[in-house]
Amino acid sequence: MSNIRLNLIAAACENMGIGKNNDIPWKLKKEMAYFNRMTKTTIDPTKQNLVIMGRRTWDSVPEKYRPFSGRLNLVLTKQPDVLKSTVPSDVMVFGSLDEAVKAVATNENIEKIWIIGGSHIYKEAINHPCCDQIYLTEIRKSFDCDTFFPEIGEGFKLLDDHSAEAIPVPIEKQSENDVEYYFRIYKRIV
Ligand SMILES: NC(=O)c1ccc[n+]([C@@H]2O[C@H](COP(=O)([O-])OP(=O)(O)OC[C@H]3O[C@@H](n4cnc5c(N)ncnc54)[C@H](OP(=O)(O)O)[C@@H]3O)[C@@H](O)[C@H]2O)c1
Repeated sequence: MSNIRLNLIAAACENMGIGKNNDIPWKLKKEMAYFNRMTKTTIDPTKQNLVIMGRRTWDSVPEKYRPFSGRLNLVLTKQPDVLKSTVPSDVMVFGSLDEAVKAVATNENIEKIWIIGGSHIYKEAINHPCCDQIYLTEIRKSFDCDTFFPEIGEGFKLLDDHSAEAIPVPIEKQSENDVEYYFRIYKRIV
């Protein structure tokens, strides 16, 4: 793939929490379906998307759901040799985000790169020059959390129109299990 762009996808509650005890603090099936649709769908059916995650996020995914199906999976850890011996052979393992991005930069079979958490990886990706769009589900409720989404900063602007999106992203309020949320998109402006 040429012109590397990183897309972030996360769901955060009112206090910007994203996790608790290495799990997601809420159960929102339709929100999870949105995550799967966004990270899985490609415009070119011969290509796949890549999901990049931190080692703790990998650990947090129940074994029956990992690696994430229909996507290439890449895990970041400071100890790549240790992790490589425990993950399936088709899961890529790298010691830094930069190393990972460089390694996949020439892979023509990858359509989009999605950064899927957790907190450290989001922070590094937001500050990465290739970070282009942030898909943040804004949950309008507070949950008890121990892991948080980092500050987005002024380099991004919130889109008020989703019509340019290749994969439709509803702009209107979503509601599930008495929890209301919005699918927000932030785009890099500088
Ligand atoms: N709500 C959401 O959208 C969402 C999304 C994803 C995750 N989560 C939640 O977030 C929590 C997990 O996130 P987390 O922030 O604790 O952990 P994480 O970012 O998933 O993983 C942290 C680990 O990644 C590795 N790592 C971090 N920075 C690295 C770097 N620059 N280079 C190489 N490796 C690096 C290290 O692994 P080693 O220790 O192996 O060196 C580190 O311990 C869970 O509760 C999960 O459910 C929520």
